[in-house]
Amino acid sequence: MAQVERIGISLDKKLLGQFDKMIEQLGYQNRSEAVRDMIRDKLEAKKLENPETTAVAAVCLVYDHHETALSKRLLELQHSKHLQTISTMHIHVDHHNCLEIIALRGKVRDITQTADKIISLRGVKLGKVNMIATEDSHTHSH
Ligand code: NI
Repeated sequence: MAQVERIGISLDKKLLGQFDKMIEQLGYQNRSEAVRDMIRDKLEAKKLENPETTAVAAVCLVYDHHETALSKRLLELQHSKHLQTISTMHIHVDHHNCLEIIALRGKVRDITQTADKIISLRGVKLGKVNMIATEDSHTHSH
């Protein structure tokens, strides 16, 4: 584990009360873990503001497989030269609906453009993108 430094934070009572109530509802056992997560979340959001940041994304879609042109377009978009499709998972939900989860790696700009194109395709009923920034080197240590 990395070196740990203790810090003190001054907060007015009302704000601290609201914070404690919120983290209790979220299930946090202590304030430190909640503060750490909030800092990470903020740092992550900041990184993703830069379109040049390398990220991995999970694009989740629900679509009607009776829209025959859609599957073809989906595949074409996944073969975009700027992006690497890491994996796709396809679940047949019911007679009409398919759930597809597409994991992509690339720059935030290209991921966002491709995801927007996918989600706006005719027949896509629901689409969401979740991204996390990654190191460019594709290596990391635990
Ligand atoms: Ni299906």
